[in-house]
Amino acid sequence: MGKLGILGRSVFFRKPTESMRLFITTILGVMLGFFIGISFPAISITKLHFPSSIISYIEDKNSGITTQALLNHAWTSQHQNNSLSDVNATAEIYITSNPKGTERLAPGILVPESDFYLRRLWGNPSEDLDIQQKYLVTFTVGLGQKNNIDKAVKKFSENFTILLFHYDGRTSEWDELEWSKRAIHVSARKQTKWWYAKRFLHPDIVARYEYIFIWDEDLGVEHFNAEEYIKLVRKHGLEISQPGLDPNKGLTWQMTKRRGDHEVHKETEERPGWCSDPHLPPCAAFVEIMAPVFSRNAWRCVWHMIQNDLVHGWGLDFALRKCVEPAHEKIGVVDAQWIDHQVVPSLGNQGKSENGKAPWEGVRERCRREWEMFQTRLANAENDYYKKMGITPTNSTHF
Ligand SMILES: *[C@@H]1O[C@H](CO)[C@@H](O)[C@H](O)[C@H]1NC(C)=O
Ligand SMILES: *[C@@H]1O[C@H](CO)[C@@H](O)[C@H](O)[C@H]1NC(C)=O
Ligand SMILES: *[C@@H]1O[C@H](CO)[C@@H](O)[C@H](O)[C@H]1NC(C)=O
Ligand SMILES: *[C@@H]1O[C@H](CO)[C@@H](O)[C@H](O)[C@H]1NC(C)=O
Repeated sequence: MGKLGILGRSVFFRKPTESMRLFITTILGVMLGFFIGISFPAISITKLHFPSSIISYIEDKNSGITTQALLNHAWTSQHQNNSLSDVNATAEIYITSNPKGTERLAPGILVPESDFYLRRLWGNPSEDLDIQQKYLVTFTVGLGQKNNIDKAVKKFSENFTILLFHYDGRTSEWDELEWSKRAIHVSARKQTKWWYAKRFLHPDIVARYEYIFIWDEDLGVEHFNAEEYIKLVRKHGLEISQPGLDPNKGLTWQMTKRRGDHEVHKETEERPGWCSDPHLPPCAAFVEIMAPVFSRNAWRCVWHMIQNDLVHGWGLDFALRKCVEPAHEKIGVVDAQWIDHQVVPSLGNQGKSENGKAPWEGVRERCRREWEMFQTRLANAENDYYKKMGITPTNSTHF
């Protein structure tokens, strides 16, 4: 939108002769449009049920042409009656099954869902898209990880929409990468992946995507291919998944360690006493939050569980199982397509030094506190519900 405004303006404030030439061309164009409008009264613009003065006003705003007086007159007299009968028709529409607040709109015009497909400013809209990507991958990035993200993005085919969330405000530097122009860039300083996800990945916005990857920036993807990954996820019916993690790099849960002899695994054994039930986290029904992949349906649920203020998402991994049933069958780790976690303390360093503590300490402290708050909120919400329903709560909500 911004681009359009700039274009429109710069065109008309160039050198005088050029402007004049453009001006005349545009006038001719408008006149032509006008005559077409007269001879085919049913063309699309007459179907917009705006008062004609509004149409001319909009055109005027965008083009700087002052012919609206002329157009006004013609369109007004031609369509006045139309508009009046429309007012009557509109007043009769009230459809209670429409989404809340849209009851007065005819259902045929409602578009409740969207996507991140990039369109062009010209041509036939139905021909805008060569390909309608079925998968979405997001990375939360800082410029320091540019090379790593470049490698990662190249593991995702043209069937993926690429969405980058920039936490350091530096976006233009990415444009030298070939794929950057077909990526979507969202910039908001010092926010976390769950903050962005809550704000920009509403289930209705990402409804076109069958699978959604919400990934960190510090993942090594040498042994990973996204199309192959999706084949396995489909084959094994995983609604929430992650690639296995290289067991030789960094500390990790048993569950998310890659196993060499499997395509996919859904359960594991942890240290004695860590799992109250073999079907519960961290022994099953569990993936971590660094590289999760959600099916469309699972994401609709998980998005609703994300808290606006708990930006680090700690504890979310243990609660993902609330979103799929049976969780120990629909949550799993893909071993055949695996990654390594490089553990770069990137966003952690974006904290603030307080009370003599290093920035990362403050961030870590907040992570822990958020984890507790999330656990408490979840337990309270469930207990409230059970109480209201007259059910005695079970203790299975632990973890
Ligand atoms: C509008 O409707 C009135 C009455 O039906 C009619 O006399 C008039 O010609 C119409 N005006 C136009 C521009 O169609
Ligand atoms: C609008 O509705 C009213 C009442 O239903 C009716 O009397 C009137 O003729 C309608 N006007 C038009 C332009 O259809
Ligand atoms: C993209 O998706 C289409 C349709 O599902 C498939 O035929 C094609 O092989 C995919 N592209 C890649 C690179 O896998
Ligand atoms: C839940 O756990 C507490 C303490 O561990 C115990 O006292 C209580 O009886 C348990 N409740 C149920 C319903 O199992």
